Amino acid sequence: MSTALAAALQIAWERRQPLFENSETNAYRLFSVGEENVRGLSADRYGQLAVVYRALGKRPLSDEALSEIADFYLAQTNINSVYVKDVQSDRSHAQPTAARHLGGAPFEGDSIVSENGLSYKVSPLESFSSGLFMDQREQRLAFRKESQSLEVLNTFAYTCSFSVACAVGGAKVTSVDISKRYLDWGKENFLANGLNPEDHEFFPNDTIGFLKGASKRGRKFDLVILDPPSFARNRKGTFSIKRDAEDLLRLAGQVVKPGGKLYFSSNLTEWNNDSLSRLMRITLPQARITHAAPLPLDFQYEEHPVSRILAVLNPGRRP
Ligand SMILES: C[S@@+](CC[C@H](N)C(=O)[O-])C[C@H]1O[C@@H](n2cnc3c(N)ncnc32)[C@H](O)[C@@H]1O
Repeated sequence: MSTALAAALQIAWERRQPLFENSETNAYRLFSVGEENVRGLSADRYGQLAVVYRALGKRPLSDEALSEIADFYLAQTNINSVYVKDVQSDRSHAQPTAARHLGGAPFEGDSIVSENGLSYKVSPLESFSSGLFMDQREQRLAFRKESQSLEVLNTFAYTCSFSVACAVGGAKVTSVDISKRYLDWGKENFLANGLNPEDHEFFPNDTIGFLKGASKRGRKFDLVILDPPSFARNRKGTFSIKRDAEDLLRLAGQVVKPGGKLYFSSNLTEWNNDSLSRLMRITLPQARITHAAPLPLDFQYEEHPVSRILAVLNPGRRP
């Protein structure tokens, strides 16, 4: 392995030592996009499995470099299997790719990982997204701590990891996602944490359509979570965060109780927290922006970290 790459892997590994000491979490980003100026490489850990992502760009990592990266991870305690996935450099439009075994024990299908003591089913080899976006780990924990007796709406819920964290914290949660398959996976995550999905609501709907209906019915929530994709196709059309963000925020604002909170997050690489705050101020001038949870340690070196803001709506109007 080139000395520079070996040194970068070692630095990234040592940085994450505080995370490795937390026995309640075993899913991390092991190497961030752009960390230590390494181009075209990132990696995640799911329990004993490491998945290396090779960006297909101008000069993708060679197969030789990949097998040396695998040796590096296999030499560490707690990792016994390494796979690689090729990804498009533009991650927001990444297509699923088949994972290839690089070394160690073969990995079978799904597994359950732990995050701050909660269990999530992941399918790390199936497609680009494994079922758990680890960069929201601290935010899930923050919501869990403040959820007691709240009514929460989690839109673009995917596999319901925010929903599970809030439900464990004592909230009644409504999860909305256009994909029934992902909501079914979400229900498995509820069950994996001893929660009965029947105590909560799941709507396989378009978020904008759901928000319009909820607003008409006067339905309101203490916390609304908006963590949409940058771009997605569905049977009726497309969702584009750039095109739809203002509508989405205005509609979401209508279903937040006075003094309730709105969380808005985006992985669009050209946006940052200031862009999100600006959008929030334009669409919901009554909102007071407060602090979202900090990025987890393993994502602090990411070239384009997810942006996220938390706002209190109609502050001062809480009865
Ligand atoms: C990037 S994931 C969202 C991550 C999720 N918030 C989380 O915490 O893990 C994108 C999700 O948005 C869903 N989705 C895409 N377009 C949608 C739409 N118009 N309405 C509702 N869900 C949508 C997809 O099915 C997918 O589950």
